[in-house]
Amino acid sequence: MSSNDPSRVLVIIASTRPGRLGPAIADWFVRATLPARAGATVDTADLADIGLPLLDEPEHPASGTYTHEHTRAWSRRVAAADAFVVVTPEYNYGMPAALKNAFDFLYHEWAWKPVAFVSYGNTSAGTRAVQMAKQVVTTLKMVPIGATVALRIADSTRDGQVPPSAGLDDAARRTLAELTRVTSALRPLRVEPAGRVTDTAGPVDGLRLALAQPDDLAELLVLQRCCWVQEALANETLDLPPLRETLDELRESLSTWQVWCVRRHGRLVAAVRARTHHGGWLIGRLMVAPDQSGNGIGSWLLAHAERQAPESATHHALFTGHRSSRNIKLYERAGYALTVADDIPEGAVHLTKPRQPCRTVAHG
Ligand SMILES: Cc1cc2nc3c(=O)[nH]c(=O)nc-3n(C[C@H](O)[C@H](O)[C@H](O)COP(=O)(O)O)c2cc1C
Repeated sequence: MSSNDPSRVLVIIASTRPGRLGPAIADWFVRATLPARAGATVDTADLADIGLPLLDEPEHPASGTYTHEHTRAWSRRVAAADAFVVVTPEYNYGMPAALKNAFDFLYHEWAWKPVAFVSYGNTSAGTRAVQMAKQVVTTLKMVPIGATVALRIADSTRDGQVPPSAGLDDAARRTLAELTRVTSALRPLRVEPAGRVTDTAGPVDGLRLALAQPDDLAELLVLQRCCWVQEALANETLDLPPLRETLDELRESLSTWQVWCVRRHGRLVAAVRARTHHGGWLIGRLMVAPDQSGNGIGSWLLAHAERQAPESATHHALFTGHRSSRNIKLYERAGYALTVADDIPEGAVHLTKPRQPCRTVAHG
C-alpha cells in the first residue's frame, strides 16, 4: 500500500426500506464525482442488498472471529476499502438502524480510514443523523472529514432523482477530493509500526505474527488458560503457572520475555515467548487455540521463536509436562530431545536442541 495507490472509496447506502431515496442520492454522488476521480476508484455497497441481519455474532467484533458468512463477506468488503462515503437519511433525528448495525458488525476493518457523509432529509438535510454517526465512527477509529454534502429533499430532488446542480455537484467533488487527501495522510497509520510484524507467510491463510503489545494481553491470557486446560487434564493437576497467572503478571512478563502473538484474520490463535537462560534460548508458553491445532501453526511458531535466538545462544531449551505427550512429540519432531536438568519445575520434563543440528543430545 503506497501513498500513490488510488484510494478505493466505498459508498455505503444506509437506508434499506422499499421505495427509499438512498440509491438515487448515491447515484447522483457517484455521477457528480466522475470528473474528479483522479486517484480514486468508487464502489457502492447498498445495505439493502447486503442484507445483514441484526448483529448475530457471538464474539466482540474486535476479536475478528466471525461465525457467519454474511459477516465475513461484509468484513472483506469493508477491509478492501481505503475510505468511505456514507449516504444517509435522517430517521427521527438519528442515523438509520441499518447503518448503526452495519458499523457494529465489524471493528478493525474500519480503523484509520476517513469517512465523508452525504446526508439528506427535510429541514435539517439529515445533519442530525450525521452528528450522531460521527460519534459512532470515531469510536471505530474512522476519521470523519470536514467536507460534507447535505441535501434538503424539497430543494435538491425532483421525481425521486437529484438533478444536476452546479453547487451540489461541486460540493460532492470537493468532498471526494478531501476524502482522497485524508486517505493518503492516514495510510501510515494503517501500516504496522516498524519491527512489530515480523512474519506473515505461515502454514495456513490469514496469519499475522507480531511481537505482543499491551493491547494483546487480555486476549492472550484467555487463550493461555484455554490452552492449558488440556495440560491440566493430561498431567492431572491444576497447579500450573499458566492457569494461575494474572493479567498483571502477564504484563510484567513482557519485561523479561519476548512474546509473539499470531492472529488469524484478526483473532489471536497462537503465541510463544523466549529469553536467554543459562547460555541457551529458553522457549516457553507455546500455545495454539485448540480449534486451530493440527494445521502446522505450532511448528511454524516454534521455528520462528528459534530464529530469534541471539548469536550467543548455544542451544534451544523448553519445558513441558511429563505427560504432555502431544507436546513432546511436536518438540521431538522439531529436533528436540529429552535432557536432564536440575532446575525444572516438578512434573515437567526438559528438552533441548543444539543450535547447530549436528550435535547429539543425550536422552535423560
Ligand atoms: C422512520 C422515518 C423517520 C424520519 N425522520 C426524519 C427526521 O427525523 N428528520 C428528517 O429530516 N426527515 C425524516 N424522515 C423523512 C426522510 O428524510 C425521508 O423520508 C427520506 O426519504 C428517507 O430516506 P430514504 O427514502 O432513503 O429512506 C423520516 C422518514 C422515516 C421513514
